[in-house]
Amino acid sequence: MSKPKILVARSVFPETIARLETHFEVESNQDDQNWSKAQLIQKLQGKQGAFTTGSERIDAEVLAACPELKICANMAVGYNNFDVDAMTARGVLATNAPDVLTETTADFGFALLMATARRITESEHFLRAGKWEKWSYDMFAGSDIHGATLGIIGMGRIGQGIARRGAHGFGMKVIYHNRSRLDPQLEAECKASYASKEDLLKTADHVVLVVPYSPASHHTIGAAELALMKPTATLVNIARGGIVDDAALAQALRDRRIAAAGLDVFEGEPKVHPALLQVPNVVLTPHIASATIPTRRAMAELAADNLVGFLVHGKPVTPLNPVVLGGK
Ligand code: GLV
Repeated sequence: MSKPKILVARSVFPETIARLETHFEVESNQDDQNWSKAQLIQKLQGKQGAFTTGSERIDAEVLAACPELKICANMAVGYNNFDVDAMTARGVLATNAPDVLTETTADFGFALLMATARRITESEHFLRAGKWEKWSYDMFAGSDIHGATLGIIGMGRIGQGIARRGAHGFGMKVIYHNRSRLDPQLEAECKASYASKEDLLKTADHVVLVVPYSPASHHTIGAAELALMKPTATLVNIARGGIVDDAALAQALRDRRIAAAGLDVFEGEPKVHPALLQVPNVVLTPHIASATIPTRRAMAELAADNLVGFLVHGKPVTPLNPVVLGGK
């Protein structure tokens, strides 16, 4: 029997490709070319599965042009590159890569918070530029993390990981806002209490965004929300570009409406709003929150598990639209 055909849309670990090749006829993109939508459609012809990374948009147009496609497995926990409704309508399974990146991403969220509040990159740029001539009492004075109020918007697994770090490691008071409240046991474990979005923005010393992107969460933080925050507050976005109105944020940073921001994700990335590049009080990183080799391996393995699980054994591991399984 011939092997199912799959496309690996981006460069991944050679070991992952080797494993996939034991089950599938694999076309890969190990030289990591940037494919246009038309090229992606062309590469997907005759493929039953796609290994995607969150950069490839799978929408109604792609699905209509690729009738043999049965599964798209994202090597990412976020899946706003998928039009899941369109996939479900076409009977195409969507899978993501949750859990395996939770702690690594929470570590990074905390690192970005620390770097932002304590002005680590801004002061390093100053030093590298040869501007450090003498010590002074207020040089790069930032804001405290320990004992401060941490506001988390989006209290899924990663948000909870950041809450635990803040409450247990740094004695922070943790408040959170989420679509639904956590059950009391989980709230107690995270030492976190629920707040309205408005109260959270008004009272938090540090706001961290970990909410998934959807049309409903577009510009969760815009000019109006920034205006509610304390002028001494910091904002960290490790969620998705588009959760923050980057132009409004750049303006707020320029006006010192808030003290500082740390951003790992951007509207229209890999492009970055030019105004953000002009302000000193922002730490900018290129979407690396889950980037440790063991975690990236685990994410790749989980995406592969989903392809093998579904196309070989009929059982995916982390389906997003399991309703399609009934019909296949
Ligand atoms: C990364 O942003 C992910 O969604 O896994």
